[in-house]
Order: sequence, then C-alpha cells, then structure tokens
Amino acid sequence: MNNLEHTLKEASEDFDQCQSVTDLDQAKAKYLGKSGVLTEALKSLGKLSAEERPKVGAEINVVKQGVEEVLEKRRDAILNASQAKQLAEESLDVTLPSRKEDRGSLHPVTQTLHRIESLFHSIGFSVAHGPQIESDFYNFTALNIPESHPARAMHDTFYIDESYVLRTHTSPVQIRHLEKNKPPLKIISPGRVYRVDSDATHSPMFHQVEGLWVDQQVSFADLKGVIEDFLQNFFENKDLKVRFRPSYFPFTEPSAEMDMSWKGGWLEIGGCGMVHPEVFKHVGIDSNQHQGFAFGLGVERLTMLRFGVNDLRHFFNNDLRFLQQFI
Ligand code: FA5
Repeated sequence: MNNLEHTLKEASEDFDQCQSVTDLDQAKAKYLGKSGVLTEALKSLGKLSAEERPKVGAEINVVKQGVEEVLEKRRDAILNASQAKQLAEESLDVTLPSRKEDRGSLHPVTQTLHRIESLFHSIGFSVAHGPQIESDFYNFTALNIPESHPARAMHDTFYIDESYVLRTHTSPVQIRHLEKNKPPLKIISPGRVYRVDSDATHSPMFHQVEGLWVDQQVSFADLKGVIEDFLQNFFENKDLKVRFRPSYFPFTEPSAEMDMSWKGGWLEIGGCGMVHPEVFKHVGIDSNQHQGFAFGLGVERLTMLRFGVNDLRHFFNNDLRFLQQFI
C-alpha cells in the first residue's frame, strides 16, 4: 500500500511537469498504459491468495482512480492555459481605426442608362423591358424583315437555334409592348443587344435604348423635338445640333440616322423613323387612326461621347484603373 500511495504522489508530480497534452499522454502511459505501473499491479493480482486478492485489488483501484483524476485535472489546466494564451494573443483592439474600404460605384454605361431613363421619365415616357433571347418572329418578322429580306444581312446575328436569336436590337420590344397595350403610349426600352461585331466602336454585346411614341397625331417634327431636347439635356449643351440623315429601316418609313454635332463634325448615335404601317398591321393597330415614331440609340456611343472615351472595349475589360475614373 505504501508503494501505491507513493505511485499517486509520483504520478501527480510527473503530470504537473507536463506542459502539453502530448507530454501528458506520454506520462500517462507510465501509470495507466499497457505495461504501466498500475496495469502491472492489477495483472499481478492473480498471484495473490484468494483472501488477499479483493483487498489489494480494491486498493489498486482507488489509486488508479486517483491517478485518473489528477490526470484529468492537469489536462483541463493545460487546455485552459493554452486557450487563455490564444485569447490574449488574438485579442482585438476595438479602438484601432479601420482599414480604408474601397467604395464600389456604378459602371459608366449604367450611369448613362440611369441618366437616359430619368430624362425620358421627365417628359412622360415609361420603361418597358423585353427578353434578350428573342424569337426570330419578334426580332425580324414582326418588324417587317421577312425570312429572305436582304435587311437581315444588316444584322450579324448570334443564333440560338432556327427559331431563337440573341436579340440584335431593342426594336422587338416595340412589338411586344404594342401587342399588350393600346395607344396612346410613350415608352423607352433600355437593354442589352448582341451582334457578331468587334472593333474600337463595335462590341458583340452592347446596349441600346429604344423609344416609341404612338398616338393619333405624332409627327416627325415631334421626333426631332424629343431627340434634340434629350441630347441637349443629356450633354448639358443647349447649342448641340442634331442632324437627321435619310436612311432605311424596314420597320420605319420614312427612316433616318441621327447624328449629333461633335468637335466640328457629326457623329452617328442611332436610327429612327415613323412606325411602318406593316408593323401596326402585325399588332392590329389601324394606321389611319394612329401614327408613331420610334428610335434606337447606342448607349455605349453616348457614354463614349459624354466621357471622352475613345475605345468602346474599355467598358468591358473590367480594368479598375479605367472604371475608377467614373466614381
Ligand atoms: C438599329 O438597331 C435599329 N433598331 C434602330 C432603330 C430603332 C431604327 C427604331 C428605327 C426605329 P442600328 O443598327 O443603326 O439600328 O443601331 C443603332 C445604334 O446602335 C447605332 O447607331 C450605334 O450607336 C449602336 N450600335 C450598333 N452596333 C453596335 C455595336 N456593335 N457596338 C456598339 N454600338 C453599336
């Protein structure tokens, strides 16, 4: 028994020396492992007489329990100490000033879209949207561009399959809106469009804003007034001039390209015209009763002119050095 009492004391001292759980596991083996002091003592019980065995067995178990208790106590102490150390090392100084956060901002093309929407909103236009994956019917046929019409060659189209395309312009929204709404109506429709096209002023994905005003008496003079007023406000320049050059679109008659004065010359910014009677026929509107004008503006083009950007591809390269100039 003396021996065993000594074992408990010795184990307790050994455990106290340990500074980590690994050390402690090693020290534990000396007492409780396969050939540990207490395990051996239990094994040797067989050599004792039947009377001695329960008594000595009970004594060994008491010591074993004692050793296990001090072991667990020491383990808790080691874990607590290491946690306290970690907390102390990781403590936060809440009084430190924070690191400067970079603030996000709207893409220059998005800024232009917002500006366009707000200017047209102020003269009574509402905003309509259409799908970017568009049926051949809405993108071409309903706009008076039938299957074999040479005007289809004006659009370098991304086909999804025989019946669906990535819309090449925002004009299909004219049809979608006229199918569901009766005149008088005044809408713009901003959005993405796609063409197989790529150089400094053409991108495979770009944005247009469609405009449509249908009423009983809407004339080309109204179209000119609306466009001129919009551009002068958009560029904050009351001297800005707009020129309408005769052109051809199958869905307007007459049709024109719109140019604006820029640094002593003219720059094309979109197409326009009076809604073609064939388009009205497709949506069941009597062209003797109603007239309308439509236009389509290139949004990147307007953004380039407003901010003096010379290559349209900058808008889509996601280079922060470029984008941060528009914060
Ligand atoms: C059209 O897309 C007609 N739907 C416009 C229209 C609407 C006419 C309503 C009549 C009535 P156009 O293909 O010209 O027209 O394109 C209009 C404008 O989109 C161009 O003036 C140009 O500013 C811009 N644009 C055309 N292709 C690209 C391109 N690949 N990248 C960037 N902008 C482009």
